[in-house]
Amino acid sequence: MATEQTFIMIKPDGVQRQLVGEIIGRFERRGYSLVGMKMVHASKEHIEKHYEDLAGKPFYPGLCNYMSSGPVVAMIWQGKDVVKQGRALLGATNPLASAPGTIRGDFAIDVGRNICHGSDAVDSAKKEIALWFGAQDGAISYKRAIDQWI
Ligand code: PPS
Repeated sequence: MATEQTFIMIKPDGVQRQLVGEIIGRFERRGYSLVGMKMVHASKEHIEKHYEDLAGKPFYPGLCNYMSSGPVVAMIWQGKDVVKQGRALLGATNPLASAPGTIRGDFAIDVGRNICHGSDAVDSAKKEIALWFGAQDGAISYKRAIDQWI
């Protein structure tokens, strides 16, 4: 079993709309392992760092305000091809383009309130996991009895 990891974050609107269990359930039911999780009310500086590649985009200030407006749930998910498949579970960034059956396609209608974030590549996942969990407080390693079936 490949041990690829991705960073998935439930954004403030996802927390406020009580979609935490729903989102975790979708990743669990697909077969992925939750290996790190915490609820954080991130500072604006932390969010600006997370989205630093987007500085200069017109929506960047609004995105940083929204993302630091309330708690988020930061998670590390592990399993085969989880970066790509995690993005597929989330659906397209703009919910109006997200297929029904995806998280955004089922629950969102506005790109500025799109419920969840997922790393777009293995390298960015490593960077984001380090930013949110640090070197000491990262993923834990454990075996599930069901691993032989997935
Ligand atoms: S871009 O312009 O192509 O680089 O942007 P994109 O890859 O589509 O999205 C990058 C992240 O910015 C968020 N985004 C927005 N937030 C608020 N308002 C608007 N208009 C907006 N457009 C894009 C988008 O959700 C992506 O964040 P994550 O956390 O990855 O979902």
